[in-house]
Amino acid sequence: MTNIISGTEIGKQIRQSIADRVVKLKDQGVTPGLAVILVGDNPASQTYVRNKQKSCEAIGIYSELVKLPEDTKESELLEQIQQLNKRQDIHGILVQLPLPKHINEDNVIATIAPEKDVDGFSPVSVGKMMLGQETFLPCTPFGVMKLLEYTGVDLAGKHAVVVGRSHIVGKPMGQLLLQKDATVTYTHSKTNDLPSITKQADILIAAVGRANFITKEHVKPGAIVIDVGINRDENNKLVGDVDFDDVSPIASHITPVPGGVGPMTITMLLFNTVQSAEHSL
Ligand code: GUN
Repeated sequence: MTNIISGTEIGKQIRQSIADRVVKLKDQGVTPGLAVILVGDNPASQTYVRNKQKSCEAIGIYSELVKLPEDTKESELLEQIQQLNKRQDIHGILVQLPLPKHINEDNVIATIAPEKDVDGFSPVSVGKMMLGQETFLPCTPFGVMKLLEYTGVDLAGKHAVVVGRSHIVGKPMGQLLLQKDATVTYTHSKTNDLPSITKQADILIAAVGRANFITKEHVKPGAIVIDVGINRDENNKLVGDVDFDDVSPIASHITPVPGGVGPMTITMLLFNTVQSAEHSL
């Protein structure tokens, strides 16, 4: 019997506890505030940003959208961030990625004050995470760790295989699993004979960005399969990196798309924003 790990349900429970913390903060005179900067009009980014704002409002977090045109100069964007860094009513700053090509993403992320870096993308946050120090954890891998926690599976000694090595998901994902004493293998688009490695995974994390890429040939029976992908298939249907119908009969636990990792990413953004506001007290 396959267990479906519902990010929708688990996210709802976590959001309830975050909402309770927002009430406590407001009693103490602090409304948590998140600023989201969107440069240009990438339709996917617009949808993500709208969802983030709606989720903030639903639990009483103030959200402010800073919408800038596609041809914004890098210096103008950095100036906006510096202004937000100084504001007492803003506890989290998120610059929606990707940015237009003429803007250097590294410069932008490094300008966000580490104490407001609720995405956990800045060099300071990443460095602290690597060292196991307290910091904001990047929301998607953080959300995956919460999903794994809810399965009740002890990660110590388990073989976790991460497929994908992005800065946002793959790399930090492996680190967080390592911190829980999993044995971690990173794989990626240049890995030779990928199925021979993924087949060894007790926990398989798919973060490749290719629709239905992981099939049952990649999966050991009884594995926990976490699907980070959000893709459109040839019929424009929202699908993950895992071929759900093919893999779910042999997995012990699996996340669906939609309703798996996606809701957790936003939940952990809310978590980090409230944590930042609590730090400001
Ligand atoms: N673009 C895709 N995912 C993310 C994310 O988690 N944070 C930001 N800032 N941009 C993204």
